[in-house]
Amino acid sequence: MTTVAPAAPSAAPARLALPPVDHAPRPYTGPSRDEVIAMRRQFTNPAVFTLYREPLLIVEGYMQYLYDETGRRYLDLFAGIVTVSVGHCHPTFVRRVQDQVGTLQHATTIYLHPNVALLAKKLASKMPPGLDVTYFVNSGSEANDLAVTMARLHTGHTDVVALRNAYHGGSPSAMGLTSHSTWKFPVGGDGRVHHAMNPDPYRSPFDGSPDEIATKSAQDIREIIRYSTPGKIAAFIAEPIQGVGGATLGARNYLAEAYAITREHGGLCIADEVQTGFGRTGEHYWGFENFGVVPDFVTMAKGIGNGAPLAAVTTRMEIARSLAQRVHFNTYGGNPVSMAAGLAVLDIIDEDGLQENARVVGGRFKAGLERLARAHPLVGDVRGMGLMLGVELVRDRATKEPAKSETLDVLESMRESGALIGKGGLDGNVLRIKPPMCITAADADFALDALDEALSRAGGGARR
Ligand SMILES: Cc1ncc(COP(=O)(O)O)c(C=O)c1O
Repeated sequence: MTTVAPAAPSAAPARLALPPVDHAPRPYTGPSRDEVIAMRRQFTNPAVFTLYREPLLIVEGYMQYLYDETGRRYLDLFAGIVTVSVGHCHPTFVRRVQDQVGTLQHATTIYLHPNVALLAKKLASKMPPGLDVTYFVNSGSEANDLAVTMARLHTGHTDVVALRNAYHGGSPSAMGLTSHSTWKFPVGGDGRVHHAMNPDPYRSPFDGSPDEIATKSAQDIREIIRYSTPGKIAAFIAEPIQGVGGATLGARNYLAEAYAITREHGGLCIADEVQTGFGRTGEHYWGFENFGVVPDFVTMAKGIGNGAPLAAVTTRMEIARSLAQRVHFNTYGGNPVSMAAGLAVLDIIDEDGLQENARVVGGRFKAGLERLARAHPLVGDVRGMGLMLGVELVRDRATKEPAKSETLDVLESMRESGALIGKGGLDGNVLRIKPPMCITAADADFALDALDEALSRAGGGARR
């Protein structure tokens, strides 16, 4: 074991100093970075990957900041992959989870515990009327699996339509819903899932305005149903804004048209809110609300638990009843500590005004990104809502050739400046900005300066 004293607050150049914070990291006393790398290499499955060329050891978090083993602080723009919603180790969150850990850690839903009922009731209060029955699980993949199972049971149909460029999880059946070759193993899968055109206007094969592309993309669902299914489907599943896919979204008319076609063919509509839920899109609590639709299922994970292994699927009672025809059980689903985490998150989002913060700081961030797009030819597209933003990098704005290695260079430069940004898209050429929702305007300005510098370096200094 080594002890590393905290370094000076930030090693970034003065011009790019992180906004001040009233938090001093503890001295780190765990294994060294090299020891951790060696243990990971030897004892963890090689499929477990790290983001940077030189892996980063993160040992502490406070609100929107992370600390490495030397005490260096970073602005977290990726939030543990869109999961830390209210802030790392938010004091209220820590207190409430610690209270529960010290009182009852686990019992399962075979006994009553108030937390399961309280969180289900609280979620119902955040949903459109009628969507008020929740099943708790541990991961987004499980939530999507369960939604599809219930849709199949309730409708009596089996085919499911998902979208190209979607990510819905890595369990064998969620992998079938996912539409990225990079995330699919050649082990067979759910042959009853079909992928329809994604309405993202930036890379759509359809012509026209974003609204026209949305309509043509929705019509593709109809064609798929006509050609590839018995004419009826169990469900249509979509992320209101595709997360792993690179913050891609269609025009506002898309989901309404897609939901109408689904319902015309006997299907139920699943909104995968694993990334877009809980106020992140700013204007609304749920991503689907930005598109004026009401789904039949809402699946949630990530932000609901601020890092606790907590996920859920909410639906209407008549649909939920379909699951009661057999025994269904999930050992950790409804765990009192995870439920305490969820209850704390929902309260903190309201108490700290985080949805409004996502709207205001997200709007400032997006305006800044659009300014950078005007200056840097490397930026092909800026998109997203609130604090769910994407910046697609291309080598040539006409051909839209994905700027893959340049994206990695931007990630590395940002890290040097003290900002940890995410990456996504099928080609790995989209910068993903999805920070804890407690991020400030000063943090956004710092990140934009760091990105300006990183884009200049990655683009070989090219500016307009
Ligand atoms: C939109 C979406 N759905 C589902 C999942 C799967 O969640 P999990 O990794 O918790 O299984 C993810 C994970 O990234 C996601 O982004």
